[in-house]
Amino acid sequence: MKNIVLIGFMGVGKGSVAREIARLSDYMAVDTDDLIESLTNKKIKKIFEEEGEKHFRKLEKDVALWLEKSVKNTLVSTGGGFYKVENLKKIGTIVLLDAPFEKILKRIQNHPNAKKKLAKRPLLQDLEKAKALYESRRPEYLEVADLVIDVTDKPLKKIAKEILKKVK
Ligand code: S3P
Repeated sequence: MKNIVLIGFMGVGKGSVAREIARLSDYMAVDTDDLIESLTNKKIKKIFEEEGEKHFRKLEKDVALWLEKSVKNTLVSTGGGFYKVENLKKIGTIVLLDAPFEKILKRIQNHPNAKKKLAKRPLLQDLEKAKALYESRRPEYLEVADLVIDVTDKPLKKIAKEILKKVK
C-alpha cells in the first residue's frame, strides 16, 4: 500500500476525511501539523507568532523528508501549504480535496467549534487575504494532485469510500 497524501485548503476537511478513511480501512493516519506540534512541543499558532512562517515552512520540509524516508502504508493529512515541499510526490499518491472557497468558509463557520477553528489558523485571520491565497493556490493544488475529489456537500463516508476505491 502506497501512502495516501491528502492536500487542500485550510478547513476543507482533510483531518475529518483522514479519520474517516482510517475508520473504514487498515490505514493508520498521521497529520503533518500534529507532527510539527509534537516535534516542537508548540502549537502552530505559536510557531507562526514566535518564529514566523518561514521557520514553519522549514519544519514542513523536515517532516516531508522524514515521511518520504520512514513512513509506509499510511494516510497522511497535511497543512494547507504543505503541498509546496519539494519531495511531495515521493511521499505517496497525492489526493486533492477540492471545494469552492465560500463552501469551505461556511463549513468552518457552521462548525460547533468555529471560533477555535478560526483562531488556530494564522492564515485565516483576514478573510480577504485568505480568499486571495485560495485563488493563488488552487491551480497549484490541481497541478500537483494525482487525484482530485470534489468534496462539496458530500458526506464524509462517501468521500472516504471514493478515495479508497480510486487509489487502489
Ligand atoms: C496552513 C494551513 C494550516 C497550518 C498552518 C498553515 C496553510 O493547516 O499548516 O496554519 O499554509 O494553508 P490546515 O490546512 O489544517 O488548516
